[in-house]
Order: sequence, then structure tokens, then C-alpha cells
Amino acid sequence: MKVRSTKGLTFDDVLLVPKRSPVSSRNDVDTSTQLTPSISLRIPIVSANMDTVTEYRMAIAMARAGGIGIIHRFMTIDQQVKQVSRVKRAEGFMVEQPYSISVKASVNEARRLMQQHDVGGLVVTNGQDELVGLVTQRDIVLAPDDTAPVASVMTPPDEIVSAPAGVSPDEARHLLHQHRLEKLPVLDDSGKLVGLVTAQDIVKFNRHPNATKDSKGRLRVGAAIGVKPTDMERAEALLAAGADLLVLDIAHGHADTCINMVKNLRATFPAAQIVAGNVASKDGAKELAQAGADAIKVGVGPGSICTTRIVTGFGVPQLTAIMDGVAGVAESGRDIPIIADGGIKASGDLVKALAAGAASVMMGSMFAGCEESPGSTVIRNGQKFKVVRGMASLGAAMGRKAVERGEDESAESPEDWDKVVPEGVEAVVPYRGHVGELLYQLVGGLRSGLSYGGAFTIKQLQQNAEFIEITPAGMRESHSHDVNRI
Ligand code: XMP
Repeated sequence: MKVRSTKGLTFDDVLLVPKRSPVSSRNDVDTSTQLTPSISLRIPIVSANMDTVTEYRMAIAMARAGGIGIIHRFMTIDQQVKQVSRVKRAEGFMVEQPYSISVKASVNEARRLMQQHDVGGLVVTNGQDELVGLVTQRDIVLAPDDTAPVASVMTPPDEIVSAPAGVSPDEARHLLHQHRLEKLPVLDDSGKLVGLVTAQDIVKFNRHPNATKDSKGRLRVGAAIGVKPTDMERAEALLAAGADLLVLDIAHGHADTCINMVKNLRATFPAAQIVAGNVASKDGAKELAQAGADAIKVGVGPGSICTTRIVTGFGVPQLTAIMDGVAGVAESGRDIPIIADGGIKASGDLVKALAAGAASVMMGSMFAGCEESPGSTVIRNGQKFKVVRGMASLGAAMGRKAVERGEDESAESPEDWDKVVPEGVEAVVPYRGHVGELLYQLVGGLRSGLSYGGAFTIKQLQQNAEFIEITPAGMRESHSHDVNRI
């Protein structure tokens, strides 16, 4: 047994000492960072892989704002793949596999397909990926005969304007405008369809200049996986669907199962970006880094809905955990980022987490109140709230078992629920509107924080950082006090 003599500190235990600043405007600072060695973000913020926080709507909004969302794993592989695909299809100047319909299909089938996929047009093919027409809403909306073949209403091949493979966004924009088109098929040398550019996509492509995008201009998204043997299958399916990173999501990541899973993933998918966690110690971070992870997620028990520390007695106050994680990665000899996960209550905590050495920050309950989160909305005393729940809460465990039963009929029955020992709670958080507005406030706080830290970049903030421990009186002084707030 050993007792560490240094105190474990968390965000409220410290403040950052202001530094002489060369920054004259908050607009001059750069909030970009590395999520992993090959994925950069314009803002260092990640939405948590929790089932009341991140599904495709949150992931799209996060990536558009310059952060990223991690789709939670408490659904079937198929459902999670669909979530990832929705993000990858949301934006990008070219859709690679546009929805298509056979030339032999009817007008009614075209209408149904467009409704089902929520798109305004379909490419018409002859069954061999060869483009034989284009059909859009305009062609079918007033078509008198629903049973007529699509061929009778589509734009025929000799009237289609197409672009060659490799067309740039500017060239595509020019062609679409020149011919006053809505849709532009992209064909390879042999005339095979390789994609579709729509006018809407070009507009969206330019609307979010800070968006986190892959090399094809699609929004980036992460997806969580576990450590069961079936999770290798899940990983493969998610990567095939275009997931930009896999987040190995284990409450106690400094475990043989997690280390072996990282090694397995590394060997099987050498090019994949793998985030591993969660850990809260130097050795935990070091060993996951040595196993081949591309970023380490730090945080055991700081989360707003976590009760791990109360139920198990384990955890490390988050600021110390971040610093220890950074030290562990340094000892591993690898240069990979730390993601600080949990416990962020305000933008000041975000600044402290970054100053302590994290490259980015994951947040759950702050985002659970947003319009884009999947959690349900409740009204209490006339005020709107959204539900948030710990992924180790009783409710989440019950939900998980329901998914497992869907996948595997032999899984435990509802009577087994009482065997769950929860390490998280279910709660409500005030409704906060769109996540873009919340991010604007958080990033505004970070920009000011960089200025107070005499830093143009997050790296400089870390180099300049000087923390000072404070007392409860200091904390009281930090909040507004001795006034009646309106
Ligand atoms: P915040 O404070 O941003 O924290 O809401 C989000 C993080 O909390 C973790 N998490 C849990 N931890 N029991 C825990 O001990 C749980 O049930 C639980 N659910 C989520 C997770 O790391 C998340 O990103």
C-alpha cells in the first residue's frame, strides 16, 4: 500500500495566473488542435459517446462548428453504421454512391425512394452502374400516371450534363450555374457513374468554413466500440462506413482487455485512428500509448452523471489526471494527444484542461441539453429540460440489454436488471437551444482565456500556464457574489 503525498486537484481547486499578453484581439488567437496525430480540429471540443448526447444530428453540428462528435455504441452494428453514414453523407461536395433507381422502375417507386432517403433526385441506371437518366422531384411531382416507367419522365442521357471524375468544387459550381442545373453526375473515363454533385451540396460545402472535414470534403465523425470479440466486427463495419476514428470506450481503460484490443485493432486496421481510454494515471496513459493508441482519453469519475468514485472508491481529480496522463504519454516515447473527458462545467474549465496539457476536451451533459442531442425533452414547472444519463446508469444498462436481446435472443432477460450495479445516474439538464450557440460561448471563453494566458495558440497556453491553488473562499470570490442576480 502507498499513499501519494501530493494532492489530487480538479478544476475548482485552481486558477490560472494571468500572463503578459501580446494578444490585442480575441480574433487573433488560433483555437485549432490535434485530436489524433492525423485529425485536426479548429475547436478543441468533442461531444461524448453517450446515448443522450451524440447521434448523427449532434455529430453533424459538432463537425460543422469545427469540433467532432463520437457516435455512442449502445445500438446494433447496423444502426451505428447508419448513424455514421448519415454524417458522412450530410455534406461533401460530391456524394459517392448516390441513391439510384432502375430504368425499369415506376414513377411511384421513384417517389417512394426519394421520400425514404429524403433526397430530391435519383440517378437512373441500367443495373450496371451506367447512367441512363436523372429523375428529380420536378419530374414526378405532377406526373399524371404513377405506374408509368421512370424512363418516361426522366431527363434522358443525351440531355444530361455530366462532369469527369476529379472535378473540383469550383468547376462543378461553374457547370451547375452555367447550365442552371440542380444535379451534376460525375462519370469516369469509361462512362461509369462515380458520384453526384448537387447545387445544395456546393452551397453547404462553403457555408461552414471551420468544419472538420476529411480529404473528400465530408464531415468527420468518430464512433465508439467496446472490447468484446464482436467489437472487431463492429470496428470493421464502422471503418467501412467511413468513420474517421474509433473510440475504445471502457470505464476502466487501464485493463488487459483494453490494451489487447488496442493491439488487435492496430494490427488489423493499421491505418485507423484509435482513441483509447479511459484512464486516470500515468501508467494507464503510458501503456495504452505503447499498445498503439493514437490518442488517450483521460477521466475516471469526473463526469457530471458519474458515481464511479462513490460506488468503487476509485478515481483521480481531473486536473491531476490530465497532468498525469500527459506525463505517461511522454514516458511512452510517443507524441500523441490527450483528450480530457468529463467534468467541464464552464468555459473556464475547458481552458484549465487545455492549459494542463490536454489537446482537446470531451463533454457530455453540457451538450445533452442541446436541440441536437437524442435525449428526450421534459417540461417541469413550465421550463424545458432534456434527459441525460450516465452510460453506467441503471436506465442505460436496461436500454443496452434491450439492444443485446435484439441481437442475441439468448441474452439475459429483464429480470436480470436488478443485478446491475450502477456507476452513473439519470438526470435532467436545462434545454440550451442549438449546440452551435453553446459552442460559440465556449469558444469565446477559450479565446479570452488564451489572451489572458499570453498565448496565440493552445500550445503556447500550455507552455505559459501557471496554476495557483485556491481556497474555498477564493472559489466563492470567483463566482458573482454579494449581489442579487437578475
Ligand atoms: P460530463 O461531465 O461532460 O462527463 O457530463 C461526460 C463523461 O462522463 C463519463 N460517463 C460516465 N462515468 N459513470 C461514470 O462513472 C457513467 O455512468 C458515465 N456515463 C458517462 C464519460 O467518460 C463521458 O464522456
